Amino acid sequence: MNLKGSSLVTVAPAQRLRGHVRVPGDKSISHRYAMLAALATGTSTIVGYSTGADCQSTLSCLESLGVRIDSSTNTETFGKTVVVHGAGLGSFQRTDPPIDAGNSGTTMRLLAGILAGHPFDSVLTGDGSLQQRPMKRIIEPLQRMGALVEAPGGHPPLTIHGAELSGIAYTTPVASAQVKSAILLAGLHAKGSTRVDEPTRTRDHSERALKAFGAQLSISGNSITVTGGTKLRPVNLAVPGDPSSAAFWLVAAAAVPGSDITINDVSLNPTRLGYLNVLKRAGADIEVTRRSTSAGEPFGSIRARHRTLGRISVTSSDVPALIDELPALGALAVHGGAIDVSGARELRHKESDRITAFSRGLQNLGADVEERTDGFRVTHNGPIPGGVADATGDHRLAMAFAIAALAGKNPSTITGASAVSVSYPDFFDVLESLRG
Ligand code: S3P
Repeated sequence: MNLKGSSLVTVAPAQRLRGHVRVPGDKSISHRYAMLAALATGTSTIVGYSTGADCQSTLSCLESLGVRIDSSTNTETFGKTVVVHGAGLGSFQRTDPPIDAGNSGTTMRLLAGILAGHPFDSVLTGDGSLQQRPMKRIIEPLQRMGALVEAPGGHPPLTIHGAELSGIAYTTPVASAQVKSAILLAGLHAKGSTRVDEPTRTRDHSERALKAFGAQLSISGNSITVTGGTKLRPVNLAVPGDPSSAAFWLVAAAAVPGSDITINDVSLNPTRLGYLNVLKRAGADIEVTRRSTSAGEPFGSIRARHRTLGRISVTSSDVPALIDELPALGALAVHGGAIDVSGARELRHKESDRITAFSRGLQNLGADVEERTDGFRVTHNGPIPGGVADATGDHRLAMAFAIAALAGKNPSTITGASAVSVSYPDFFDVLESLRG
């Protein structure tokens, strides 16, 4: 059954889920490898590059800026192989038409950092969802470095008037890896050094990748400093599987009686595994086996087996390390136990307002959900009747509703399900293959 392009998907309740899965290459790492390879001097090869539409947006944006890229899909290396012919720092070429980042916030924010250091004007735009997302958080520091960025009401499209940049010391007001990374990438093109201090540590893929490409970078606690002007070297890289995609299968295994699922070759970067800590706190049966490291990124396998779980509580200090996994964790609570999430207001600024859209979708499946300003609460009261949930064009909501639907008395329908193509085009096929 090929469900990839389908916008309406029906999900039947599950008896048990079993199997081994290789999820697509990590989305965050793929974006960063492609961008840094484009800024390196020479040719880099990236295997296992994400097959999702977001990472394709990054490649298309780079190509429109004059970067030469060859890519092919390779089933043996589980993803795309991408060859990037980098022409060095500051080598992007001016393009008049708007550069389209599609649905991808990471593409837009990180590219804005790079374009701020290119002395020409460019326009970055995106789809309807991306045009609602807040950009002041990157505009402010990039302007302090010397660029001028225009954005109506602080939202895309962004008009970037690139300039000669100077290094700054900046404390990010919100914990955001995208903001941190935009500043560090601008810092590569700036005079002197650029320091970013984070209120809470966020995913550190940019730091690990910058080191692999030979940038001059130092880290002290939550403070990262990059020195501008250092030539980047090309690197051959392998992208580990995306732990955010893996989360859906791991919570499904934890939730559905009789289940046992192993995810192979997945990223074990600790800044991404906050959800495993929360699951373990609730008593989940999780086994992590580290295999190796590639370009400073640890990877291995994660196995989850069903076990009855206790109540899960997520508070603000947990959020940065599991922000993208909150819909998956919420779906888990539909099967048993309960979850209480607070301090997660940032969820309102993702591909959708993930607090409202998630709460509505789960309520429409018959789950007991309370929406809060900065989070939500889901309580299990026996099997849900099932129903129709709208993913509102948000890939992670489509997948979370599918996992919740497994707890139904009846099949459920997910509308807008084709949004999974943003990060996990095969999601629904894999779900069917795991049914025991
Ligand atoms: C990402 C950072 C996070 C995350 C997003 C990917 C990244 O966003 O939610 O899916 O690749 O840097 P914020 O930086 O806005 O928290």
